[in-house]
Amino acid sequence: MKSPPHCVNPHVLLALHLLTSLGLSLAQTLTPFPFRTVNISQLFDNTAASPDGSADFDGHGDSFDSQFLPTGPFTYDGITYNLPTTWGAQPDNVMASGQVITLDEPTTAHEIHFLLAGDADFGADFNMTFVDGSTQSVQVQVKNWYVWANVYKGVIETPSHFEQNGAARNLNRTNIYQWSASILSESPLQSITLPAQGSHTTHLFGMAFTPSASPDTNDTDSTGPVLSVRRARFTSRWEMINGVRAQAVEVTLANLLPSSAHSANNSLNSNHSIAITGDGITTVLPGTVNRLVPGDQARVDVFVTGSTDNSNATVEVRDSTENTVGTSEGWDTSALIENWVPDRDVLNVHETPTWWNNAKFGIFIHWGVYSYPAWAPPSQYAEWYDWYMHNPANESSPTWVHHRDTYGESVVYDDFIPFFNASKFNASAWVDLFDRAGAKYFVLVTKHHDGFALFDTGNSTDRNSVKFGPKRDLVAELFETSAREKPDLHRGTYYSLPEWFNPDFAPYGFGTWPGGLAHNAYNASEVEPYTGRLPIDDYIEDLQFPQMLSLAEKYGTEIMWCDIGGPNKTIEFAAAFYNSAMADGRQVTINDRCGAVPDFTTPEYTTFNSIQTASWESSEGMDPFSYGLNSRTNASQYKNGTTIIQTLVDIVSKNGNFLLDIGPTAEGEIIAPMADNLLDAGSWLAHSGECVYDTKFWFPTSQDIKTPNDTTSPSTRFTTTPTTFCMVTFSPPSGGQLVIDKRVPLLPGDEIFFLSPNANTTSLPWTMADNGKLTVDVSGSMDEIESVKFAWAFQVKYKLD
Ligand SMILES: *[C@@H]1O[C@H](CO)[C@@H](O)[C@H](O)[C@H]1NC(C)=O
Ligand SMILES: *[C@@H]1O[C@H](CO)[C@@H](O)[C@H](O)[C@H]1NC(C)=O
Ligand SMILES: *[C@@H]1O[C@H](CO)[C@@H](O)[C@H](O)[C@H]1NC(C)=O
Ligand SMILES: *[C@@H]1O[C@H](CO)[C@@H](O)[C@H](O)[C@H]1NC(C)=O
Ligand SMILES: *[C@@H]1O[C@H](CO)[C@@H](O)[C@H](O)[C@H]1NC(C)=O
Ligand SMILES: *[C@@H]1O[C@H](CO)[C@@H](O)[C@H](O)[C@H]1NC(C)=O
Ligand SMILES: *[C@@H]1O[C@H](CO)[C@@H](O)[C@H](O)[C@H]1NC(C)=O
Ligand SMILES: *[C@@H]1O[C@H](CO)[C@@H](O)[C@H](O)[C@H]1NC(C)=O
Ligand SMILES: *[C@@H]1O[C@H](CO)[C@@H](O)[C@H](O)[C@H]1NC(C)=O
Ligand SMILES: *[C@@H]1O[C@H](CO)[C@@H](O)[C@H](O)[C@H]1NC(C)=O
Ligand SMILES: *[C@@H]1O[C@H](CO)[C@@H](O)[C@H](O)[C@H]1NC(C)=O
Ligand SMILES: *[C@@H]1O[C@H](CO)[C@@H](O)[C@H](O)[C@H]1NC(C)=O
Repeated sequence: MKSPPHCVNPHVLLALHLLTSLGLSLAQTLTPFPFRTVNISQLFDNTAASPDGSADFDGHGDSFDSQFLPTGPFTYDGITYNLPTTWGAQPDNVMASGQVITLDEPTTAHEIHFLLAGDADFGADFNMTFVDGSTQSVQVQVKNWYVWANVYKGVIETPSHFEQNGAARNLNRTNIYQWSASILSESPLQSITLPAQGSHTTHLFGMAFTPSASPDTNDTDSTGPVLSVRRARFTSRWEMINGVRAQAVEVTLANLLPSSAHSANNSLNSNHSIAITGDGITTVLPGTVNRLVPGDQARVDVFVTGSTDNSNATVEVRDSTENTVGTSEGWDTSALIENWVPDRDVLNVHETPTWWNNAKFGIFIHWGVYSYPAWAPPSQYAEWYDWYMHNPANESSPTWVHHRDTYGESVVYDDFIPFFNASKFNASAWVDLFDRAGAKYFVLVTKHHDGFALFDTGNSTDRNSVKFGPKRDLVAELFETSAREKPDLHRGTYYSLPEWFNPDFAPYGFGTWPGGLAHNAYNASEVEPYTGRLPIDDYIEDLQFPQMLSLAEKYGTEIMWCDIGGPNKTIEFAAAFYNSAMADGRQVTINDRCGAVPDFTTPEYTTFNSIQTASWESSEGMDPFSYGLNSRTNASQYKNGTTIIQTLVDIVSKNGNFLLDIGPTAEGEIIAPMADNLLDAGSWLAHSGECVYDTKFWFPTSQDIKTPNDTTSPSTRFTTTPTTFCMVTFSPPSGGQLVIDKRVPLLPGDEIFFLSPNANTTSLPWTMADNGKLTVDVSGSMDEIESVKFAWAFQVKYKLD
């Protein structure tokens, strides 16, 4: 790899000479982000689309309607795939079943790109094999080709699809999705093994990859970084800068050299600024990239004013002496939205605010009438007591049996309302606990499927905590106290769109939310009361929509965390929500369970194996299987400091947020074991939070996972900031060494610090081998390391040129 120091490449010299002789500036055009389309048509074994429904995509006679699909070369996010010139004439996709695609010529690669759709939502492994025999498994989250809830939006979307070989039409939207992932570029990529056939099928329509740039063969260590603008995206996010509302343009900059060319001279390693120019556009705050090693990408916000829709912008990169390093032209612009209108296409532009992206850790609170019985068998949610008491209404439901044995057959669910009394509820104590737990936001259940609201629901219903039970406006108390005492803590509301047993929901009922009064669980001939119901004409117009608006406009929620989806007026709601928040100088967000226009997805009691570049938030109870308090669960089963911190760090390394749920008692107490575990998590975040909050994922990979036997080199997660790189291990390094097998972005002169309660730690000696293996000598810091619990954060501070 070593070569004589810095010979000038004669081709570059000639090019520069030509440019100068033509009187052109030396400011060069940055390398356009490259890609090579892989022709996979010889593998095609399924026909997804036709003009008449004769295709059979899913094996049940359902298929895409080709009149809605593009033909020929299809470009998305700068990558072009080949779609058929005529759909229906021949197979157009491959059903993955472990087929191997061998590249014509092994090529060192930077990123891989797919165009695909599934017959369900699931994770599928694409396995890369490299020339040196190494492998890399890339997990792709495949999404269902059609989405009943109409929530997800593919890069190709059709308004309907064929059923029964064309005899019928399904009016749900239907999609083809796109996915890109980093490829480790230590060795040339030789082949790609498609996912094995499981219970679900991945349909692949197209594939491409981005080759790495070639280092100068005579001077591999000193080629200089090969910078390329991966994308420049005009976002809906903004900041007030010098009194002006400035739009965030997210610029992703890549160093296309392969990671095997890792060297200081091949890296960007000083304060570079990124600005945007274009018609009417002014950069009011440039972005900063300090460090970009071969194979890496950095995302940075550039703040601009004056952008309009569908014009062209240029990205300009300058070095620390303000010299232009290069420019990249032709980026599509879009104006910062000043007024949200109830239009799905407009609202789909909305994204999670910067504060939400940086917050990482939130507390979810399931509190309501169900907190009084506080009971569920293992593997059921305690907040579903009302449902399981009625379904099935016989001995095969443990909740039905428990209710009969504990309260007797004459007690109905609404008889619990007076016992949900909040008598010990102290909003100050709650928000103080959340703050000390290190949470940056909370989401309170304001109305669950039982329809009992914790706020003033006006003339929509009296079924709430103001009229019954505590006779207090619990949402107002928590929100006002939080705003006053912990103004930096963001405030969110969970809201169930449907209600199980509300008679007014019956016209809209579906699945386990049928609506209609419950029949008495022990005497089906009687119906149960629905306490507090007021006469209304329409559930959506007169109850759901006004209640959501009230949470937005009167209570000032910052997160509308809907549940279940279903019939909704979310398009109208979202526009009103965003406009009223903006008028207040705030940025707010909604999840993917409001039936439309989501900002983020919400995996429940599950996380992902790989980085997800779209916003996501995983929620889990501290209880291993309940959000609401379950008195049956032994407190020793709760997520402890270790589980909370390791789950949080794992999620953050993959670009997600963690919403950790607690279930207070009917009196409004957060029981000691739950509070203690939160405080344990907070104690770690107090010294190591710099590796969590305000971080971004590291493009090459989220983690370095070791075999359980490899005790010297524990499983590690990575996060980044503009000036640091974090390696957080899930067990303490032993044997005096921390060994990382991934080529992390360290350069000579960088210092590594162990984050601990002792603020004055010394930097740890380290070496990086030619193959990228990092060894950190921690032998001098074993006292510090042993003083820390849950996870061990090693923070690299970049030494910039
Ligand atoms: C590399 O060095 C060889 C021998 O000195 C020379 O012939 C060749 O042109 C050089 N290649 C480049 C790209 O500079
Ligand atoms: C892909 O390869 C097939 C042969 O396997 C060929 O017929 C087809 O023209 C190729 N498509 C493109 C876009 O090059
Ligand atoms: C959407 O799909 C579901 C499930 O297949 C189906 O029951 C429903 O009728 C579809 N909706 C429309 C409007 O076609
Ligand atoms: C891909 O790699 C994963 C992880 O190494 C492995 O479990 C899986 O079997 C591989 N899939 C195929 C189709 O080879
Ligand atoms: C890096 O570049 C500098 C300046 O061009 C040069 O002096 C030095 O020898 C190079 N280092 C290596 C390892 O090639
Ligand atoms: C980089 O430079 C900008 C502007 O000169 C400055 O605001 C910023 O603090 C610098 N960042 C670092 C990490 O030095
Ligand atoms: C933007 O520039 C590209 C070429 O760089 C051109 O093809 C495109 O038409 C331009 N778009 C607009 C809206 O001006
Ligand atoms: C509730 O009050 C509002 C405002 O006074 C009114 O517009 C609405 O029709 C009322 N709803 C019902 C169900 O009475
Ligand atoms: C939400 O409402 C929109 C607009 O009325 C509708 O298209 C969508 O299907 C609804 N979502 C669900 C999950 O029913
Ligand atoms: C924390 O919980 C995990 C998972 O249940 C368990 O393995 C571990 O022993 C617990 N740690 C402590 C200190 O109790
Ligand atoms: C780990 O160590 C145990 C006990 O020494 C051994 O049985 C097992 O095979 C080892 N596992 C691996 C993956 O090396
Ligand atoms: C930190 O530790 C070093 C070496 O032990 C010592 O010289 C220095 O004074 C300490 N600094 C502070 C702020 O305690």
